[in-house]
Amino acid sequence: MSVIDVIRAKRDGGRLTDEQIDWVIRAYTAGVVADEQMSALAMAILLNGMDRREINRWTDAMIGTGIRMDFSGLRRPTADKHSTGGVGDKITLPLAPLVAACGAAVPQLSGRGLGHTGGTLDKLESIPGWRARLSPDEMLRVLREVGAVICAAGDELAPADRKLYALRDVTGTVESIPLIASSIMSKKIAEGTGALVLDVKVGSGAFMKDRAQARQLASTMVALGTDHGVRTVALLTDMQVPLGLTAGNALEVREAVEVLAGAGPSDVVELTIALAREMLAAAGIDGVDPAAKLADGSAMDVWRRMIRAQGGDPDAELPRARERHVLAAPASGTLTRLDALAVGIAAWRLGAGRTRKEDAVQPGAGVELHAKPGDTVTAGAPLLTLHTDTPERFEAALDDLAGAVTIGTGTVGTDG
Ligand code: URA
Repeated sequence: MSVIDVIRAKRDGGRLTDEQIDWVIRAYTAGVVADEQMSALAMAILLNGMDRREINRWTDAMIGTGIRMDFSGLRRPTADKHSTGGVGDKITLPLAPLVAACGAAVPQLSGRGLGHTGGTLDKLESIPGWRARLSPDEMLRVLREVGAVICAAGDELAPADRKLYALRDVTGTVESIPLIASSIMSKKIAEGTGALVLDVKVGSGAFMKDRAQARQLASTMVALGTDHGVRTVALLTDMQVPLGLTAGNALEVREAVEVLAGAGPSDVVELTIALAREMLAAAGIDGVDPAAKLADGSAMDVWRRMIRAQGGDPDAELPRARERHVLAAPASGTLTRLDALAVGIAAWRLGAGRTRKEDAVQPGAGVELHAKPGDTVTAGAPLLTLHTDTPERFEAALDDLAGAVTIGTGTVGTDG
């Protein structure tokens, strides 16, 4: 087969055959198709799309380059969730133990942050001793003993996607719905979950800035899951404003623990419970109220066992940044806008995120919010606290936040 013919077929608006897709994915993973050829094909796909058959086959081909996990020996049904990523999105942390406390097994493979959205593994690594890398056997043991596990996807799961995603990241070809959907779903299908809830974020702080695009991504992923026998549902949720009151690794773990203790910001609690309900329904578990399992401490109990099973100390002091800077409200009135993207970029700039894959993150860095849209604020009172170990970063973070906040007298979202 000639890779140039495959590229030309998609460039000219044609549909790739099953054989072409199988071959190109295998050959790229083996290093036979070069990065520049695969990036030309990715660009042709970004411009001309793929139909449902092609997306299914592309996903199968990527799964076929690695192993498939099998949790069918567990006595509980499995359920997982995937978020497309947002600012302050720490929902996985309380959600996985909560759903396990309700009777499902939660095999949660997570990632690290790149750019302004944080990564679940970076957050959990701020807990002293906690380990993200588990072998498939260790993952199964934690799942069996605790009911929930959050860990890194191993190299053996859809390795074609790992290689292709890194290439897309540097060739302007991330923003293709067929490629995003097949990338996310290849890992979830290979992971072997029986049910999957997708939290597709929409708004300034999300990957998908508008609702129509988010809806198309959601329906493409639901179709892929369904075609592969995974009971898949999607929610579109707001990412115009950060979730909760923190963006940054240890700051978010602290907030997640507050939620598990029965407190925490109402938006984080509500979304955690809503996603838990969807996961339980998709897993076929009824008659259990996740709100009650948060309130009675069962979810907290699973969290503590899950952290310990992965080498962490749930009672350890979480790291704090060495320096803080308080940003005061410039006027009195109602906070009508607090832009998620600006807060995410500021947190990243302060050291909570990384610029290159190999960078280290600062566990204590980030942004703490003292008010959310709809709240009344007083001139001079703290609005945001910036945390970092490297105070020379304050100036750039403050520049990112200039214009991120609107204080007025109107209602939320209307007072410009
Ligand atoms: N996350 C993924 O895993 N893949 C994409 O293509 C985009 C986001």
